[in-house]
Amino acid sequence: MGIHDENSHLEESDKNYIWHPFTQMKDWLEEKPVIISEGRDCFIKDICGRWYLDGVSSMWVNIHGHRKKEIDDAIKEQIERISHSTLLGLSNIPAIQLAERLIKLLSQSLIGSQLPNPPTPPLAKGGEGGFKVFYSDNGSTSVEVALKMAFQYWLHKGVTGKNSFLSLKNAYHGDTLGAVSVGGIETYHKVFSPLLFKTYNAPSPYCYRCELGLTYPDCKTACLKKKEEILIKHSYETAAVIIEPLVQAAGGIIVSPEGYLKGVRDLCTKYNVLMIADEVATGFGRTGRMFACEHEGIVPDILCISKGITGGYLPLAATITTDEIYNAFSGEFRDLKTFFHGHSYTGNPLACAAALACLDIFEKEETLRNLKPNIELLEGWLKEISELPHVGDARNKGLMSGVELVKDKNTKEPYAWEEKTGWKVAYHARDNGVFLRPLGNVIVIMPPLSISIENLKQMLKVIKDAIIAVT
Ligand SMILES: Cc1ncc(COP(=O)(O)O)c(C=O)c1O
Repeated sequence: MGIHDENSHLEESDKNYIWHPFTQMKDWLEEKPVIISEGRDCFIKDICGRWYLDGVSSMWVNIHGHRKKEIDDAIKEQIERISHSTLLGLSNIPAIQLAERLIKLLSQSLIGSQLPNPPTPPLAKGGEGGFKVFYSDNGSTSVEVALKMAFQYWLHKGVTGKNSFLSLKNAYHGDTLGAVSVGGIETYHKVFSPLLFKTYNAPSPYCYRCELGLTYPDCKTACLKKKEEILIKHSYETAAVIIEPLVQAAGGIIVSPEGYLKGVRDLCTKYNVLMIADEVATGFGRTGRMFACEHEGIVPDILCISKGITGGYLPLAATITTDEIYNAFSGEFRDLKTFFHGHSYTGNPLACAAALACLDIFEKEETLRNLKPNIELLEGWLKEISELPHVGDARNKGLMSGVELVKDKNTKEPYAWEEKTGWKVAYHARDNGVFLRPLGNVIVIMPPLSISIENLKQMLKVIKDAIIAVT
């Protein structure tokens, strides 16, 4: 079989056998699929030999680039020992080493010395200053774990009735049913509503489209007050507030105003509900700091991490919680206080080895410090692009950014979603060597943190040209 025949066969087989996620397959079947065969640095290559800049880090996971030698080697070395053994009734070396490393990292970055007044974990008083790592294997499961943990924590403390959660409009926490219950994106979540548990929804801190009709900072973050009103009425039935710190990612890269996150932490403490920070998207440097919570010096009660944890190599997640919560599950075997949750691939040694190598690179290459010129370049470009007639809002936190396209800049009227304006921009960019995946009318720009300044410039030029051509 020649290369052309092989490629045609792959394209046909893809269409015959794969159901792609978040994809209208009728459309997919009419298109020529791009099939990736290779990656290097921040580029991915398709089977026809075309290279693309990976503008969304292979769904926001890639950190140090593809085929990063240190991570490749760490996985190979681990394969020579063992690829998988269970954490149910056993332990494994990389999982132990990674847990220790994550806790140290968290202690440094969240309770770290860089803050003028280091916060104390609100639920870690009385000498219980530690954290524990509960592994799973993707972002959604890290959230499921957090929700179940929070719910059961209150039961173990003898507090009944905390059967609900407070989440945000435009929130996205994954696709499993618990995560969907605390989701707030109508297009994805409404259809499943008969299957979901009850939650309360506070306004999204979406300043460009403030649902309260106010303007920041004159509003004095009135959306927080709305949140407080809900807690005043319902904290007795609320186990936890769940939030994507600083950036509601899948909601459209919605960046919350300064002080909002800290305000949420204060409300949680005041009304005696737990705070779950879902850093699945924001964690591992995306916002310019290791964790988004660092920006406002807060420590959540439960932290969910995944995506970038392995540098974008293998599925792994962790739900990290305080000793206060962990200790509430401790008891006699017959007390049934055990946390009955666990997945087959929990704490997979290959994934943990990749994660350890990923953290080594953060240190060795000073990834966070080196991000600064890229963030400055991106911010300059966002300012420039916001002058375009159909760019309503261009926003970022670190290297997470979104350009919101509008039909009418004065009225902020969006393009009708059926027009697929975001997709048209993405296809134009793809034809010019940049792979993007938009969120409706929002063009998401989230390259690997390791992208060089030249490649970032090239990527931004292609995106600008695409926006101009399409709008
Ligand atoms: C904030 C957040 N939480 C959870 C998830 C779900 O992660 P996964 O797709 O790995 O299940 C995502 C995925 O985009 C996310 O952005």
